[in-house]
Amino acid sequence: MRLSLVIWRQADATAAGDFERYELTDIAPEVSILELLDMLNAQLVAENRDPVAFDHDCREGICGSCGLMVNGQAHGPVDSTPACLQRARSFEDGDIVTMEPFRADAFPVIRDLVVDRSSLDRIIASGGYVSTATNAAPEALTMSVNKIESDVAMDHAACIGCGACVAACPNAAAQLFTGAKVAHLAQLPQGQVERYERVRSMVETMEEDFGSCTNFGECVPACPADIQLDVIALLNRDYARSMFRVSGDEEVRHKDRRDIPWLSRLRSGPWWQSDPDDQPHATS
Ligand code: SF4
Ligand code: FES
Repeated sequence: MRLSLVIWRQADATAAGDFERYELTDIAPEVSILELLDMLNAQLVAENRDPVAFDHDCREGICGSCGLMVNGQAHGPVDSTPACLQRARSFEDGDIVTMEPFRADAFPVIRDLVVDRSSLDRIIASGGYVSTATNAAPEALTMSVNKIESDVAMDHAACIGCGACVAACPNAAAQLFTGAKVAHLAQLPQGQVERYERVRSMVETMEEDFGSCTNFGECVPACPADIQLDVIALLNRDYARSMFRVSGDEEVRHKDRRDIPWLSRLRSGPWWQSDPDDQPHATS
């Protein structure tokens, strides 16, 4: 088959970019989108022209390195599939296929289709560590994890950190990514010790670079790991709880939130009892 590739070319982070059109022929239907770029680059190098820069590594849907917009869709036309596993057979012979980098303020373009996704790494790093007992080996089954919880934790651990959820979101929000990371450890006993410090720190780091979730839900079909919106509900719930708790079952207010009036009222009982102006007055 034959395709016209219209590709974003940008020499570096500060250069102005633009689309350039290239023609590719003799494409087998099973060729992946990344292999289309390989074919194009072989052609460009043979013509002594600059090849297209793009990110890739495993090429089997594991590493999260690949990521680009294909005809306006993060990763490409097939839902829940990374760019490295999207095939040319999704297009008709003679189609024009547009490829551009993920578009989000948090993902500045480095060159051509390559963006800097280290803002996602900063969210992960802010989650800190997990405390574990390092004494003698514990009795078997003293920390049993039931099958359902371990399956759910594994489902959330499937996030490959590609950033497609951010690129697909009209707000460039990272709630699906952060929710998956938080939900993974929140299901497991090992994740309980720092559970609330972790979520608070990750959400606050996330908010420095990314937009806010307003429930468009565009992130879910773009996600190659099938992470679902319920992780965002868990993220919001744990973040709200983190305002009351520092760790484990200890219920304390976080020092930074001591002066938030509505939190003080919630903590001290029914709202009408905590506001002197709203309390019922005794009549005599
Ligand atoms: S939640 Fe899905 S789309 Fe977002 S980074 Fe993880 S794997 Fe990629
Ligand atoms: S190259 Fe590793 S997930 Fe696509």
